[in-house]
Amino acid sequence: MLVLNVVGARPNFMKIAPVVEAMRAAGLPQYLVHTGQHYDEKMSSLFFEELGIPAPDINLEVGSGSQAVQTAEVLRRFEPVVLEMRPDMVVVVGDVNSTMACTLVAVKLGIPVAHIEAGLRSFDRSMPEEINRLVTDSLSNLLFVSESSGLDNLRSEGVPDEKVHFVGNVMIDTLLRHRESANRSDVRARLGVDSGRCYALVTLHRPSNVDNLPKLAGLLRALDELARELPVVFPIHPRTRKNAIEAGLEPELGRLVTTDPLGYLEFLNLMSNAQVVITDSGGVQEETTVLGVPCLTVRENTERPATIACGTNRLVGTDPDAMLRAAREALHGPRPESRLPALWDGKAARRIVDVLMRTLCTDYAHAAAR
Ligand code: UD1
Ligand code: UDP
Repeated sequence: MLVLNVVGARPNFMKIAPVVEAMRAAGLPQYLVHTGQHYDEKMSSLFFEELGIPAPDINLEVGSGSQAVQTAEVLRRFEPVVLEMRPDMVVVVGDVNSTMACTLVAVKLGIPVAHIEAGLRSFDRSMPEEINRLVTDSLSNLLFVSESSGLDNLRSEGVPDEKVHFVGNVMIDTLLRHRESANRSDVRARLGVDSGRCYALVTLHRPSNVDNLPKLAGLLRALDELARELPVVFPIHPRTRKNAIEAGLEPELGRLVTTDPLGYLEFLNLMSNAQVVITDSGGVQEETTVLGVPCLTVRENTERPATIACGTNRLVGTDPDAMLRAAREALHGPRPESRLPALWDGKAARRIVDVLMRTLCTDYAHAAAR
């Protein structure tokens, strides 16, 4: 029996870490393939060390490219790996290009696919991730769902119930596992926002916010305004950094506390202690829900509605003035109440591996009987 786990980009690492660990504990043989979609030390290898993920068995080194080129490179380079290894199952996580491309390769070679974080929908097809979610879910054999909206979405798309398993959120497994060690990080002292001081934490990387240069300029100007009122910490994603430099927007960053992308433990420490988090990240909406920290999402929609219904998340749209107003309200208003969405309890990966073991054993028994 062999399972092939796939990762490619930053948020994949937090999702696969507890799954790899649960597979090891269950004695399920596994290989880890890294597509190389993200490759900077601070976007990739750092997380392997911090989260105790074994080094990838194979790195496809696809690197950056347009949507089509990057996807095509993963298709081209993953196919021979699957042909050689002939795994019994390919496991993909999240909604990045690597997730969709590896799914396509596997199903075309007759290998079943399990998708972790299935069923999320923003209903916004201008997002590359939404296309990746739709394709991946429609081709996968096992759909592991992290929040109840995922069950509703898959049902309304006509997916048979027996494919769908509501298991909870693997990203939260990782958060609960590392919360204490993150508390020990000295990142706030290093960045000059030590305990007791209020600060806002920002991440932005969605193409709709940062590839549109007038939009990016407006958002950075609003953050500059906010930075007159309290420290604004901004670990900058490489896509955003590149665009800001190209557009000559570095002066707008002068008042902010900017850094390269941070490691998971440092970033978790900063999130836990922030007065408010301003973001367009998917994962950060979920993590702030569990931490009970107010989150303002700079988007018009979210594929993670549980973070609004149960958590601290608020969609503020992408208008810079509206973002600034919402930040001031969050700083001066009452702290939002939050409760944990169902099954965000640190045990999602174990539930997933139980289902995988049952499915693989049943498949083997059927094959042996034939
Ligand atoms: C990707 C995912 C997005 C996810 C994000 C997490 C898709 C379609 N997008 O977006 O869903 O939220 O990762 O961070 O899969 N770059 C570097 N070094 C790196 C990686 C990227 O410099 O290690 C730069 C390159 O200039 C590259 C750009 O960032 O062109 C964008 O990288 P890419 O992987 O295409 O998309 P992300 O914006 O990172
Ligand atoms: N994160 C991190 N360092 C940073 C910014 C984010 O470790 O500087 C973590 C964050 O805590 C979460 C994940 O990266 O676990 C989210 O990834 P990202 O925002 O890149 O992608 P998305 O979730 O939007 O797909």
